Amino acid sequence: MPERHGKVTVVGAGFYGSTTAQRLAEYDIFETVMLTDIIEGRPAGLALDLNQSRPIEGFETEVAGVTTTDDGGGYEETAGSDVVIITAGLPRKPGMSRMDLLEVNAKIVRGVAENVAKHSPNAVLIVVSNPLDEMTALTQLASQFPKERVFGQAGVLDTARFTNNVATTLGVPVSSVQTLTLGSHGDTMVPVPSACSVSGKPLADVMDQATIDELVARTRNGGAEVVALLKTGSAYFAPSAAVARMARAVIEDSGAVIPVCAWVDGEYGISGVYLGVEAEIGAGGVRRVVERDLTESELAALREAAEAVRAKQADVTTP
Ligand SMILES: NC(=O)c1ccc[n+]([C@@H]2O[C@H](COP(=O)([O-])OP(=O)(O)OC[C@H]3O[C@@H](n4cnc5c(N)ncnc54)[C@H](O)[C@@H]3O)[C@@H](O)[C@H]2O)c1
Repeated sequence: MPERHGKVTVVGAGFYGSTTAQRLAEYDIFETVMLTDIIEGRPAGLALDLNQSRPIEGFETEVAGVTTTDDGGGYEETAGSDVVIITAGLPRKPGMSRMDLLEVNAKIVRGVAENVAKHSPNAVLIVVSNPLDEMTALTQLASQFPKERVFGQAGVLDTARFTNNVATTLGVPVSSVQTLTLGSHGDTMVPVPSACSVSGKPLADVMDQATIDELVARTRNGGAEVVALLKTGSAYFAPSAAVARMARAVIEDSGAVIPVCAWVDGEYGISGVYLGVEAEIGAGGVRRVVERDLTESELAALREAAEAVRAKQADVTTP
């Protein structure tokens, strides 16, 4: 029987939040998964449904659900969370950019972060609401948590999309492909071909530059491609898998090195901004940002991404 410990709260019980709760519960490593939403009854209903799947799927983690209000009602049920995943907010519609969500989601995320911080002052906060880099910076400001305890999900997902694109193009198993994306979760995403390989061979040895460029572009556009097909709402299977892995690294204090949106303080010659970089993740959040050798053009693209998100983050974090 595996040992279960820790409480993880998922704020927002929409597509992203509910699939995340399912993945976390099915890991069977947490004591409790708490799901919240402002829609009356929805989190409790989903929690009951998930609990009823336990005898079939064979997990013991208990799922609970609570409806919250903007003035903080219900948040007492989230008290003492070790990890809080923030998915509250609107998703994109076809033709929208993530930045189009800025104003409405900033209001939601600010309120959520303040309420969460009050009841779980020692939690690690993982942000997924879009626009991701800006909402991560805003969550840190609103919670007043140390920067290492607030980070965002983008890199695991973008990297998985890049890997899937390479694997399907070559017709090889995804397990034989390694890829990496850094930078922002948006137009200035920085796919890193120098860190990509197929069965240990550099990407440039197994496909031509035009194909690599095409796959990089498709990766950058990965979220919009799904949104355009779905017509309403955005992706959630791969995104929930990505954030669940991050929460797992925290609760297991694993030290896994994964691409996340983390506070950068001097690495790559960049300072004072939340940016997609590789980081070692443990019980206290980001243990350290891990720098790797980049080509000159990759480094230039990362610095360009940093300046683009710095300007946008200033918009949401300046009172
Ligand atoms: N970081 C990423 O890689 C990534 C990927 C996909 C989606 N997203 C983002 O995740 C967010 C959620 O996406 P979704 O598909 O689940 O959308 P959704 O519309 O299905 O769910 C959002 C939920 O948030 C709830 N909500 C709104 N205000 C709230 C509040 N104050 N407190 C608690 N809950 C509240 C809504 O009632 C709704 O149920 C969106 O902003 C989307 O753009 C991020």
